[in-house]
Amino acid sequence: MNVLLKSCVALSCISLLGACQQAYKTEQQQYVDKGKAAEVWPEIVSDVKQDPIIEKKVEALLSKMTLEQKVAQMIQPEIRDISVEDMRRYGFGSYLNGGGSFPNNEKHSTPQDWIVLAEKMYQASIDDSIDGIAIPTMWGTDAVHGHNNVIGATLFPHNIGLGAANNPAMIEKIAQITATEVMVTGIDWVFAPTVATVRDDRWGRTYEGYSEDPDIVKKYAYAIVKGLQGHAGKDFLGDDRVISTVKHFIGDGGTVGGDDQGDNIATEQELFDIHGQGYVGGLTAGAQSVMASFNSWHGKKLHGHKYLLTNVLKEQMGFDGFVVGDWNGHGQIEGCTNDNCPQAVNAGLDIYMVPTDAWKPLLENTIKQVKEGVIAHSRVDDAVRRILRVKFRAGLFDKPSPKNRLFSGKTALIGQQSHRLVAQQAVRESLVLLKNKGNILPLKPSQHILVAGDGADNIGKQSGGWTITWQGTNNTNEDFPGGSSIYQGIKSQVTKAGGSVELNVQGEFSQKPDVAVVVFGEEPYAEGHGDRSNLDYQRGIKSDLALLKKLKAQNIPVVSLFISGRPMWVNAELNASDAFVAVWLPGSEGKAVADVLLTDDKGQVQYDFKGKLSFSWPKSADQLVNRFDEDNEPLLPYGFGLRYGEESLLSDNLNEQSAKVSADQSYVNLFNGQVSKLWQLNLIDGDDQKVINSSTASLTHVTYRTIDRNVQEDAFTLTSSDATSAGLSMTTGNGFREDLTAAHEAGNYLVISMRRNSGEIKSAKVQLSCESIGDERGSCSGNVKIDKTLNHLPLNTWKNIAIPLECFAEQGVKFSQIVSPFALLVAGSNSMSISNIDYRSIKETDQAVSCQ
Ligand code: BGC
Ligand code: BGC
Repeated sequence: MNVLLKSCVALSCISLLGACQQAYKTEQQQYVDKGKAAEVWPEIVSDVKQDPIIEKKVEALLSKMTLEQKVAQMIQPEIRDISVEDMRRYGFGSYLNGGGSFPNNEKHSTPQDWIVLAEKMYQASIDDSIDGIAIPTMWGTDAVHGHNNVIGATLFPHNIGLGAANNPAMIEKIAQITATEVMVTGIDWVFAPTVATVRDDRWGRTYEGYSEDPDIVKKYAYAIVKGLQGHAGKDFLGDDRVISTVKHFIGDGGTVGGDDQGDNIATEQELFDIHGQGYVGGLTAGAQSVMASFNSWHGKKLHGHKYLLTNVLKEQMGFDGFVVGDWNGHGQIEGCTNDNCPQAVNAGLDIYMVPTDAWKPLLENTIKQVKEGVIAHSRVDDAVRRILRVKFRAGLFDKPSPKNRLFSGKTALIGQQSHRLVAQQAVRESLVLLKNKGNILPLKPSQHILVAGDGADNIGKQSGGWTITWQGTNNTNEDFPGGSSIYQGIKSQVTKAGGSVELNVQGEFSQKPDVAVVVFGEEPYAEGHGDRSNLDYQRGIKSDLALLKKLKAQNIPVVSLFISGRPMWVNAELNASDAFVAVWLPGSEGKAVADVLLTDDKGQVQYDFKGKLSFSWPKSADQLVNRFDEDNEPLLPYGFGLRYGEESLLSDNLNEQSAKVSADQSYVNLFNGQVSKLWQLNLIDGDDQKVINSSTASLTHVTYRTIDRNVQEDAFTLTSSDATSAGLSMTTGNGFREDLTAAHEAGNYLVISMRRNSGEIKSAKVQLSCESIGDERGSCSGNVKIDKTLNHLPLNTWKNIAIPLECFAEQGVKFSQIVSPFALLVAGSNSMSISNIDYRSIKETDQAVSCQ
């Protein structure tokens, strides 16, 4: 085994982090040395060679462009924030639709609606009447498991499931189908594949990765890029292909604690050996774009990392396509805001992804910065040269307009049967059999089968995040025309074979079943919303375990089908199951699960299990483990997966003792000048509400305004006049539930750092809300009055008010399912300021409030 890989595993051990950081610091100076890149990073020989004819065309066009036209190529706004007229006026080089963003803001937009928008944007971009130049724009979209923003598209298993299938040839086919369906809607470019090598399964994007092993990631990256873009010298970026993006450069799967957008502290060699392999595969295959990552490397954000973006990626590895940013990722660089960030371009970013209305000031600021010499003209030319090179390679100057392209409008191709068959094959190959006591599987379809669990007939749940909506929440089976649930597959095969099926989420039945198939697992999530403090499945809820046990108690054999975006600690659920299958996030073709689970009507196996774990499976909730970690045995190793007839290894009495939460897992910051990334802040006045997204906001009886406590805008003042119930709330937006159990379990407090400025507080209460699932489904909330405490505060003095989280739990708040971790509602005419809101342990200087 590679010694470097071995040593990097030790890195995931927290106690060594300090030492690594030290080591990094002493090496830091060397990073400025361009030559150093060559010691670690290879030169990549891309299958796509530079074409002198194209290079000439690029130079000719570039020489005719004004500065304004060039900078417009570098700005990528989002469809919710620009009009077709903006496109005509500015001529943006590209634009995107984010997750859950559709033409006309309509979830049920038809493929035709997508084409209409693509056509209008294209025509506006080549209309030179206002901006003076005709350069076709490009539309980019997150087609990350099929064309997943479009109703009716074929949805493939998420990457984690594809990794378990370990079949590069199939992956190439999947990518080509995705390209086809994307092209039906007139779109040119996809933000896939994600080539993260995931090293901490607590990360909410674990399912977007193929494996903890860079080897699969590298092979897959190569195959997918070929499938999306075609083969150099043959069908490369031909009429049936789209531009692909390897993302997120670099180290997104290796952040400390699995923190989304967090910090990766690997050494440079590890960065290449582990997190760089997807780029080796993808860039060799000729990927034309690379997306910069939100994460940092040793504290420095990738969007502003000149060494990695320019010296390593472009110079050493020889990448000649363009680097696109991630969702306002440039705004996270120290010293930058969404609308002002020369640092990113200077570091090597070629296209700013700039959703929200920041695009306009960003465009203007960038032009000004070039004029003032803050950004060199040559850097802009380099960026635009790269963008134009890709556009020429993709034939955008020659291809017909979006509505007239090969597949445009051929709506029958969206979700076409032959596409679904490939997705079904992928589902079958991705399933991993973890336990099969007494060879209970395969099931004969001629029996009476109970299908239970809230994942059984739930295509949204089985598809996970990045499914029609960004988070994959709020979808129903009707949103998946042509798709099927896991239950539907079982039902149709069993009925055909003369057996019978009962579907009941809670596991009730009218006729005692021969066997129960229980489908359960994680609710959909995307990005940081999926970050977890440990891998305990249904921590603090355990309603699925109760369901399994209830069935077992009635002597019904139980087959568990576990839907999840990562391996999880499910020892108790395994103990309560006779058979246990990791189904990951299979996508729209749930019915294919039955092909493997059931024999044909003659009792013959139809398809055996093929999937093997591409991630090690943990034996405790806090075990962070991967295959290179020799001293840390997982429950089931990388590569594990039973086939029919093989002996099941797991006993029925795996350790069910849950892990203790450590202090670092229990601290939650909600507000520190800015609302923390998982939440939005809303202003409330009685029934009136609005999202706060700038430095001031007001409703009739209440005003919000940012102020400076220690540094600029690190606090806000809330002024109420004659209010009966006004204030603010922090929410997850779309009803998403966050798991804050760790904070509660650790005995923490909700601590609000506040100051009373003036006026009398007639009443004031702090409120938390949750939306519970399982047996106690419904909304729940709890509140604590703090008016007495506030009225006793000396005016104009900052104080930390600390309320035990237990006060809210006593009133029924479930910390595993929080939709609002904080709200403050006041009555009267008064003014107060807040600078910090945290869930943390209490300190001496805090003023504790009792539950009443
Ligand atoms: C994600 C990217 C995605 C982009 C556009 C970002 O938040 O990190 O993976 O391509 O949004 O939706
Ligand atoms: C947007 C999505 C987008 C995501 C990227 C969300 O706020 O609604 O469209 O993909 O951010 O992080």
